[in-house]
Amino acid sequence: MDKSTICDCDVLPLSKIHNRAGNITIVEGHVNVPFSIRRIYYLYDIPGGESRGGHAHKELYQLIVAASGSFDVLLDDGLNKKIIRLNRPDYGLLVVPGIWRELFEFSSGSVCLVLASEKYDEDDYLREYDYFKTWKSKDNV
Ligand code: TYD
Repeated sequence: MDKSTICDCDVLPLSKIHNRAGNITIVEGHVNVPFSIRRIYYLYDIPGGESRGGHAHKELYQLIVAASGSFDVLLDDGLNKKIIRLNRPDYGLLVVPGIWRELFEFSSGSVCLVLASEKYDEDDYLREYDYFKTWKSKDNV
């Protein structure tokens, strides 16, 4: 993969089946997201004013969904930044490897659902911003 940029991160529409009893959204690997889904986790009970993330991944792809409520996601490729507000359970933000992300402005009771391409691996994290910038400026994604 070429060096990733924030332009490679996109809000993807997900399938939604609606009837009078409510909605259902389905996410399938290689159908709605361009990776196999190997792990799911979700953030909830996030205290007001709190932020999450504050790291990048070397190889992990993720789809971030506001399953309930809303929050902002800051994306940073070391050169450019953008903030995306997620507030619909039938849309997901694709975050590719090599992108620093921060999640904040969580609404009360919000749930952040994350579908990930790999099992948990602490070695895949870049947790120091300066180190991320150095890593990014080298021959990495
Ligand atoms: P982290 O990814 O840093 O959370 P966030 O980006 O939401 O702020 O993870 C928080 C803690 O949970 C950290 O100690 C690692 C652990 N963790 C796992 O053990 N497995 C997982 O799949 C995830 C996502 C986190």
